[in-house]
Amino acid sequence: MAKILVSDGIEKSAAEELKKMGHVIVDKSCTPDELLRQVQAVDAMIVRSATKVTREVIDSALKSKRLKLIIRGGVGVDNIDVSYAEANGISVTNTPNASSLAVAELAIGHMFALARYIYISNVSMRDGKWDKKKYEGIELSGKTLGLIGFGRIARETGKMAKAIGMKVIYNSRSGRKDGCEEFEYVPMEELLANSDFISLHIPYDKEQGTLIGQKEFEKMKDGVFLVNCARGGVVDEEALLSALNFGKVAAAALDVYEQEPTKNERLCMHDKVCLTPHIGASTIEAQERIGKEIVEIIKSRLN
Ligand code: 3PG
Repeated sequence: MAKILVSDGIEKSAAEELKKMGHVIVDKSCTPDELLRQVQAVDAMIVRSATKVTREVIDSALKSKRLKLIIRGGVGVDNIDVSYAEANGISVTNTPNASSLAVAELAIGHMFALARYIYISNVSMRDGKWDKKKYEGIELSGKTLGLIGFGRIARETGKMAKAIGMKVIYNSRSGRKDGCEEFEYVPMEELLANSDFISLHIPYDKEQGTLIGQKEFEKMKDGVFLVNCARGGVVDEEALLSALNFGKVAAAALDVYEQEPTKNERLCMHDKVCLTPHIGASTIEAQERIGKEIVEIIKSRLN
């Protein structure tokens, strides 16, 4: 039976199921030094986004040659040096289906929050104010939503937006998607120029770096709303701040940040920014589905 390090938590029933199967679970959030030690003593590890499985961590694991499998309970694997792990015989897998609805619902929730000032009127009422006139918003219905990236989460977001009455357009690095006739593929420039709301659904790619910076903001419609529930680093936070200050971007909603936990106070205190602490996949249902997928992966790979 396997010894499995769980460093960012796992849904309770999945942990119990793994124990019933006879595996030993080390449920421990590790400092970087502890992680270097722990990876030498386990056969598999399960992480979310907080644990950074760097080249150094993999080199440490290779000393004992015990670690065979890294499971990312979630979608993004940018916290794992996947190519280095795989080149050294450690396989890496994620659970790409389980959290699409949760992230899509958060993105839509953020759009409502921005359009109706929910995020900021909540703060002002706690301050004893009654700013009814100030918070006249807009309706999502009839507006154009531009999706950048068109994977599972973007498609769910598109379906929900369509149900609200939005027109949905998309752009994807890999081009037009077959079988997605209900949404219109447009070139990036067109998406930036024509969207009232832009929602990002692309992974962070170190080689490619920032996707939305000053140049892209300049091409957007005046008064656009921006939602990023994808990855920090995809949006240049300094460029976003100046786009907010110049009124180019009416308001932005962020679930992810260049650095997490973020220390960007100017962003966090900005009255045109709605914030959540990387909770896109943090629903009971999504974590249950992720837990089940993890159990299946372990059954097929380690039993
Ligand atoms: C993901 O990539 O699955 C999401 O960003 C969620 O990350 P988390 O599991 O660290 O919350």
